[in-house]
Amino acid sequence: MRIFLDTASVQEIRELADLIDGVTTNPSLVAKEGGSFQELLGEICALLPGPVSAEVLSLETEGMVREARELARVADNIVIKIPMTIAGMRAVKQLSAEGIDTNVTLVFSSTQALWAAKCGATYVSPFVGRIDDRAGNGMEVVDDILEVYGNYGYTTEVIVASVRHVRHVVESALLGADIATVPYKVARQLFDHPLTDEGIERFLKDWEKARG
Ligand code: E4P
Repeated sequence: MRIFLDTASVQEIRELADLIDGVTTNPSLVAKEGGSFQELLGEICALLPGPVSAEVLSLETEGMVREARELARVADNIVIKIPMTIAGMRAVKQLSAEGIDTNVTLVFSSTQALWAAKCGATYVSPFVGRIDDRAGNGMEVVDDILEVYGNYGYTTEVIVASVRHVRHVVESALLGADIATVPYKVARQLFDHPLTDEGIERFLKDWEKARG
């Protein structure tokens, strides 16, 4: 399973750029960073070869397509994030015909994911954390999407998004999701285990005692 970093922080991306497979941003994350959107994207895209998702703000198909074409010019690894609406699906169809990669965002059900795939989306992003927040079961939605895509051989890749904790990543991998996009804190936690730290300390102490 590929791991993307869900952040617009250049500092966070730089720290893990050689290990992660891609980046997803959204308007809230970009707004936190300030400055010019295009310059920030350019800087992020130069840090890694993997896909970097950048979201459009327009709500109409025409505006989405116009923004998407502009964003796609920033770098070769840009992926255009389009919200899951009817206007958005028309934009995805058009962009897919132009060879521009898309990531359909704000997906909360398998029927929404089905539409994204039918319109030619490159990626689909079910928001598991926000589903769980409302007492739903985000991972169940991911499981359904994977089954639906498998039934019809859709090649749209599933990015498990709105990840809140390590368990979401474990379950994504067990279900066979293509990608999990994780906040920096979770990305760091994926490497950690107290027994690893304790083990290293003990090995070094034993080495010192015997040979030091
Ligand atoms: C995904 O691409 C989104 O940027 C993100 O995962 C949303 O997560 P949130 O629900 O924590 O805001």
